[in-house]
Amino acid sequence: MDIQRIGVVGAGTMGNGIAHVFGRCGYNVVLCDVEQKFLDRALATISKNLDRELAKGKITAEDKTAALGRIQPITDRGRLAECDFVIEAATEKFEIKTEIFRELDRLLRPEIILASNTSSISITKLAALTQRPDKIIGMHFFNPVPVMKLVEVIRGLATSQETFTTVRDLAGKLEKTPVEVNDAPGFVSNRVLMPLLNEAMYAVMEGVAKPEAVDEVFRLGMAHPMGPLTLADFIGLDVCLDIMRVMHSGLGDPKYRPCPLLIKMVDAGWLGRKSGRGFYKY
Ligand SMILES: NC(=O)c1ccc[n+]([C@@H]2O[C@H](COP(=O)([O-])OP(=O)(O)OC[C@H]3O[C@@H](n4cnc5c(N)ncnc54)[C@H](O)[C@@H]3O)[C@@H](O)[C@H]2O)c1
Repeated sequence: MDIQRIGVVGAGTMGNGIAHVFGRCGYNVVLCDVEQKFLDRALATISKNLDRELAKGKITAEDKTAALGRIQPITDRGRLAECDFVIEAATEKFEIKTEIFRELDRLLRPEIILASNTSSISITKLAALTQRPDKIIGMHFFNPVPVMKLVEVIRGLATSQETFTTVRDLAGKLEKTPVEVNDAPGFVSNRVLMPLLNEAMYAVMEGVAKPEAVDEVFRLGMAHPMGPLTLADFIGLDVCLDIMRVMHSGLGDPKYRPCPLLIKMVDAGWLGRKSGRGFYKY
């Protein structure tokens, strides 16, 4: 099928980035959120991020105007029925995604693929909510979306080869590099990354080293662009904890036990950069 019009559900950090790249690559985008104020904020962010690309000479002023012109903000979900492909990037709560998947399954034409950008929820479980499990897939972008090259393309148990091929090719058209993985808690990215961050937290908790020292080891010794604790603060400590819990319960292995210091910090409201305090003060 010729994919022209893209629906993006959720206009937060990831949704605005996803709308940005589709718009910049020539697709018409319908960007949906629950309130107009979230859409206004998303469009302001997209405009600012397009300015960055303009300043770097990656796009022209005309490209920016055209990209913004292709993104249509909506609060009326019914408009998604016109779309040829829909990606959900709403809040990471299973109840919220359940409601969205059930409703979209009713609204969208039967041949339409519905993807999720979820970081940790089972694609197989989302697919089971619908009458089109073969057309449900994970399309996991990374933050910041306009910059990061990777898209993890996640097959649920029932995802068809045709769905997989369409989404893999679509990622390529966005100048991203798709990597195929199967559905399992944390997929590959978080399955490997989060235990590293969690272990760095144990090292701090046990007094092995201060956060600055742990981060320096990774920046200078392993050439990581930022250390694990800086990265955890950037992702959000509440998000890290949620993902560790999904892996701990989903994989049943004690090695995924969330670090008690992480739990304590989240209880204190120290969520990293977004709350002004995490392993560092901002
Ligand atoms: N932030 C990251 O680094 C990151 C990376 C990869 C994947 N993800 C995943 O992307 C998804 C979105 O994460 P985010 O960081 O952008 O969250 P966010 O909180 O920044 O944005 C979520 C948006 O969804 C909207 N929303 C909630 N319910 C909705 C509904 N019923 N219909 C339409 N919109 C609704 C909210 O109003 C909000 O604007 C999550 O599944 C998350 O796991 C996040």
